[in-house]
Amino acid sequence: MAVDLLLGLQWGDEGKGKIVDVLTSNYNIIARFQGGPNAGHTLEFDGIKHVLRTIPSGIFHKESVNVIGNGVVIDPVVFAKELEGLDQFNIDYKKNLIISRKAHVILPTHRLLDAASEASKGKAKIGSTLKGIGPTYMDKTGRNGIRVGDLELSDWKEKYRALANKHEALIEFYNVDVQYNLKEMEVEFFEAVEVLKTLQFIDSEEYLFQAQKSGKTILAEGAQGSLLDIDFGTYPFVTSSNTTAAGACTGLGVAPNQIGEVYGIFKAYTTRVGSGPFPTELFDEVGEKMAKIGNEFGAVTGRNRRCGWLDLIALKYACQVNGVTKLMMMKGDVLSGFKSLKVCTAYNYKGETITHLPYSIEPENLKPIYTEFKGWKEDLTKMTEEAQFPKELNDYIAFLEKELEIPIQVVSVGPDRKQTIFR
Ligand code: IMP
Repeated sequence: MAVDLLLGLQWGDEGKGKIVDVLTSNYNIIARFQGGPNAGHTLEFDGIKHVLRTIPSGIFHKESVNVIGNGVVIDPVVFAKELEGLDQFNIDYKKNLIISRKAHVILPTHRLLDAASEASKGKAKIGSTLKGIGPTYMDKTGRNGIRVGDLELSDWKEKYRALANKHEALIEFYNVDVQYNLKEMEVEFFEAVEVLKTLQFIDSEEYLFQAQKSGKTILAEGAQGSLLDIDFGTYPFVTSSNTTAAGACTGLGVAPNQIGEVYGIFKAYTTRVGSGPFPTELFDEVGEKMAKIGNEFGAVTGRNRRCGWLDLIALKYACQVNGVTKLMMMKGDVLSGFKSLKVCTAYNYKGETITHLPYSIEPENLKPIYTEFKGWKEDLTKMTEEAQFPKELNDYIAFLEKELEIPIQVVSVGPDRKQTIFR
């Protein structure tokens, strides 16, 4: 069986957690392939809201196996707390949550390095979630990292000490005010490593290969969004992993010719958290209204998300880079009550009209050109089928499908599992 892929097409927070949870009943295995606790995948069901950080969003389905792939970076401290949060749900995670030995471990000093690096950047800071993501991936590509499999070795603490010492020297080099008590952080860290070690560590590429061979269905779950991709995102205001489709191959060991459907998730408007260019950002009461109705606050950091109109040029780019086969439009309900809606359909780039995403989308070079649509008044949150959609919403959807040349298979009309309309 092919491996299907689900990923975000914007700057993250598109609602991937909800959709993976909805789709899980169609799959035997859910596998996370990149990112780490910088992600906050929110799921809502039976009146409960739950945020997952490193654990795949299939965990609430008893029948599914959840794999944390080699491309993920794991902070044992956050992970142990995440497991604790699951205890109330009676989930047998020792059985249905398994971890790649090749996944890298976030150390306490990685978090400190993240803070020191950001503090040293001043106004140019990335707006990182400060979870140690960048420094951990730096150690991975620098071939210095500690992997989950290393934790099974008797001398791993020696390797840890050497790396932590090097990190402390680097923190000093930054010469910024970062207060910390490493001894205390280490007590928490070593305890959490013991919790992590109670789970099953596996050679996940072999596991997934055999699963595929025996006909099991697999869904790869992305984190962050395509515009935060280390190669194709708005560099340097990006995360440190490949959030796009290729990242699923390297982050799970799945061959490119084994990828089936690529589900691309986008919001009916756009949001961004952290720094970096955002051509369609709104700085007026319209943006404030979107943020308020859409409850646009970061699931991990609680920061306000920046809001703006849908950017079709950026969305087309993300569909191209990922090879999206089916689209899912989230938070359509948030746009109810706006008199008119805008979609960016071209850019004015240095005085010229262009319809592709150029190297630099900084505001001094680029202004969005909009197509305007009539809004709808109807509340969508109670709707259960497409036939109930107002004409204006159908027009909006039809326009996007025509421009993107990809069907919109799902329209989400609220945070709950049940508020999901398949077309
Ligand atoms: P980092 O990955 O924590 O270093 O953050 C780098 C950039 O990506 C910052 O602008 C973050 O706000 C953003 N970012 C990281 N993870 C997420 C996410 O899950 N959703 C939205 N933005 C994210």
